[in-house]
Amino acid sequence: MRKLVDGRSLASARKHTLRLLRTKRFPLERKRVIETIDPVDFQQIRRRYAVENPGADWPKYLDLERWIGINIRRIRELELDVSGPKRILDLGCGAGYFLYIAQLLGHSGLGLDIDRLPMFREITRLLGVHRVVQRIDAFRPLPDLGQKFNLITAFMICFNDHKMPGLWKVPEWEFFLDDLAKHLTPRGRVWLELNQEYDGTFYTPELKEFFQKRGARINEHKVIFTSGLRAPASTSPAARRTP
Ligand SMILES: C[S@@+](CC[C@H](N)C(=O)[O-])C[C@H]1O[C@@H](n2cnc3c(N)ncnc32)[C@H](O)[C@@H]1O
Repeated sequence: MRKLVDGRSLASARKHTLRLLRTKRFPLERKRVIETIDPVDFQQIRRRYAVENPGADWPKYLDLERWIGINIRRIRELELDVSGPKRILDLGCGAGYFLYIAQLLGHSGLGLDIDRLPMFREITRLLGVHRVVQRIDAFRPLPDLGQKFNLITAFMICFNDHKMPGLWKVPEWEFFLDDLAKHLTPRGRVWLELNQEYDGTFYTPELKEFFQKRGARINEHKVIFTSGLRAPASTSPAARRTP
C-alpha cells in the first residue's frame, strides 16, 4: 500500500504505462534503429574515415552499435520516448544520432555544430538531420534559429573551451545561458552534459553553485534545467540595483 502511494513508484508506473501506450511509435531498439540507416551509404562513409582501433578519436563515431545504443539511453533518460512531439535544438550535435532517433519518434530537431569534420557533415546529411553550421564562442550570441525550442541539449560539451586554457567560467556561462533563454519556450528544458577536464572535474565549485542558483539540478556531469532558465536572484536586475 505504501509502495502504491510512493511518488517514485507512481512516476515509474506512469512511464511504464506511457511506454505501453506508445508502442505504435517507432520501436526503440538498437537493431531496429540501425536498420533504418542506409547500409550502403553508411559503408561508404565508413570506408572513407574508419581507422583501426580509433580509441578516443573521431572515427569512433562510426561504431553504430555503440553510438546508437548510447543515444537510445539518452532518449530514454530525457523521456523523449514517452513524451509528445518536441522541438529540439542539439548543440555540438556531432554525427546527429541523438536527433535522428528523436526524429524517428516524431520529434523535430535542429543541430548546431562547427563544420570541421567532413565525416560529421556526411553522416548528418545521410541521416537527414538538419544542422546550422556555427561556432559557439564565449560572449557571442547564437544566430537567429527561426524558432523557439522546447528542449535544448548538449552532450559531451566541447564548446566551453573544454581542456583548453580559456575554459569557460561563470561569466561565460552566464552570457551563454542568458542568450540560450531567448531560444527556449517559456517552460522549456535545457539538458547539458559536461566533459571531464584534465583534473577529473566537470566544473568548479563556483560554477556548480552558479548553475544551482539558476535552478539547475546537477547530477555529476549533467546540468539540467527542467523549466526555463531563470536568472539567479543575486544577479537579477532588482538585486543589482544600487540603493
Ligand atoms: C565530443 S563531440 C560530441 C558530439 C555529440 N554531442 C555526442 O555526444 O555524440 C563534441 C561536438 O562539439 C562540437 N564543437 C566543438 N567545439 C564547438 C564550438 N565551439 N561550437 C560548436 N560546436 C562545437 C564538435 O564539432 C563535436 O561535434
